[in-house]
Amino acid sequence: MFLRGKQKIPEHFIKIFAIQLIPVLVMCLTTGDIAMADLKEKMSMKAPTLEAKDFSYLFDKLEGFSKNQLSQHNELYEKYVAKVNEINGRLTNADVMSANQNYSEFRSLKVELAHNLNGAVLHELYFSNLTPEYQDPPRELVEMIENDFASWNDYIEDLRATGAASRAGWAVTGYNYRDGKIYNFIIDQHNIHVPSYVRPLLVMDTWEHAFMIDYGIDKKAYMKAFFANADWNVMLERLKSTLETDDLLEKSTR
Ligand SMILES: [Fe+2]
Repeated sequence: MFLRGKQKIPEHFIKIFAIQLIPVLVMCLTTGDIAMADLKEKMSMKAPTLEAKDFSYLFDKLEGFSKNQLSQHNELYEKYVAKVNEINGRLTNADVMSANQNYSEFRSLKVELAHNLNGAVLHELYFSNLTPEYQDPPRELVEMIENDFASWNDYIEDLRATGAASRAGWAVTGYNYRDGKIYNFIIDQHNIHVPSYVRPLLVMDTWEHAFMIDYGIDKKAYMKAFFANADWNVMLERLKSTLETDDLLEKSTR
């Protein structure tokens, strides 16, 4: 059967190949194209669009924060939202077949999506837990915090230390669905050390851009201003709505 030298392939083999195999090959290639087109269409139909929220009501209204500081910070937030939409758009056309862990466009887009989506969401949580009408923390919140910290002051000191220890990133008080306890977490950048299964309750931006205009590199002075404008009522609302869904506790990490 093996061909040697100038031996020719028998004609009937060529006919069998042409009649039986070529249509199969064509069908495989076509269905592959259709499957890829279907996948792309489904992905494009599901590409979400994020709308930036309006935080201009805070400009010039927070004690210790200039209008310039807040409006420039808000501009950065809007850029994260725009990037999320750009990346989601690009993902609809990304080549899923060449995705790989070393380098691929698909991987890069997914990594940057996490960075920008967290960048958008964390800023929304941050601006939302600042208020021009400061009130002391409600007793209900203090009591809930004191279930997991020795005292309210202990909690504040731990959060302050968390902020001091965080790099360009975030200090976040969060409810951990796994054990039903409240912790302060560090997030570096927007997507490094992000704890899983945790609902953010209070979010403090520790990137220099959050305070450089008003405080230079004095993060301590900035954190003092943050605490003087923190909306503890929003934190309590977030905690209450978290506890309403704490049946997740029973299902945690299942
Ligand atoms: Fe920021």
